Amino acid sequence: MIDKIESLKAEISSAVAPDAEAVERFRIKYLGKKGEIALLMNDFRSVPAESKREMGQRLNELKTLAALRLAALREALAAGAEAEAADIDLTRTATPLPLGTRHPLSLVKKEIIDIFAAMGFTIAEGPEIEDDWHVFSSLNFPPDHPARDMQDTFFIARDPSDILLRTHTSSVQTRVMESTAPPIRIVCPGRVYRNEAISARAHCFFHQVEGLYIDRNVSFADLRQVLLQFAREMFGPETKIRLRPSYFPFTEPSAEMDISCNICGGKGCGFCKHTGWVEILGCGMVDPNVLRSCGIDPDIYSGYAFGMGVERITNLKYRVSDLRLFSENDVRFLREFESAK
Ligand code: DAH
Repeated sequence: MIDKIESLKAEISSAVAPDAEAVERFRIKYLGKKGEIALLMNDFRSVPAESKREMGQRLNELKTLAALRLAALREALAAGAEAEAADIDLTRTATPLPLGTRHPLSLVKKEIIDIFAAMGFTIAEGPEIEDDWHVFSSLNFPPDHPARDMQDTFFIARDPSDILLRTHTSSVQTRVMESTAPPIRIVCPGRVYRNEAISARAHCFFHQVEGLYIDRNVSFADLRQVLLQFAREMFGPETKIRLRPSYFPFTEPSAEMDISCNICGGKGCGFCKHTGWVEILGCGMVDPNVLRSCGIDPDIYSGYAFGMGVERITNLKYRVSDLRLFSENDVRFLREFESAK
């Protein structure tokens, strides 16, 4: 009997009644003349005298619970009808919650990734806290290279091996090459850190997208074509590119890529310092030393790599003049990108 009372209590407490018929069904089922509680009352007669007191109490509690629940269900029904009559939408949130917008850097990062994904690149990611091997040594940086200097790199620990915040996403190249056999065709988006004073034009963290393609017979012409395609998709079909010889320890030959200034269309303006060109990325053919460090035979495989700053591309696309805006979370700034795709 106790079990029966307890299970009825649970049923009654969770009963719902969406309309008047359901409320009436509830009343008949539990409180009707032949209802569950009435049946229990009949059984009560055969309860031994010593348990009568306790059982009686439990039965009364059950009856009160059912009566209260019935009253509550009736009340809810009446309130609903009243609201309906007053044309109140009970499903509406009390205060409208303002929607956020996508961050401009996320928008541009996605655009960059989508362009390369359409050309067969997949996404690879790596840790922001790295070691010297993945950020510098495996990438052919000589031991005394200035980029390793305290002034550029945030070191976390110096012994026994250097642990640091990665200064570029090129570290992901090493991680993927160490663990994957060619062909490799990846883009690696991520945050990087450099020990710079924060100003309108520099920040101690920013974002890069790295690209890497390793296979048999990969040539500089392949690199150029992929980058041209990227520039046209990102900045419009009229965009021209220019590759200038440069130096990076991990590529040979190395180049920097300029695009025709998308603000003046190449005629020359303040933004491109009247040259008609703006630099957007570094690139080159992966140095055989790097392939060797990562266990890939440079006599069989070759490849290209490139790396670009997401902030830089965003500035060119949306003309953001102060880098600090990207990390200040001022909603007035972020809302300007509401309609961006
Ligand atoms: N890691 C370079 C930087 O942070 C960018 C870069 C240049 C990446 C050339 C590359 C590359 O993969 O080939 O400035």
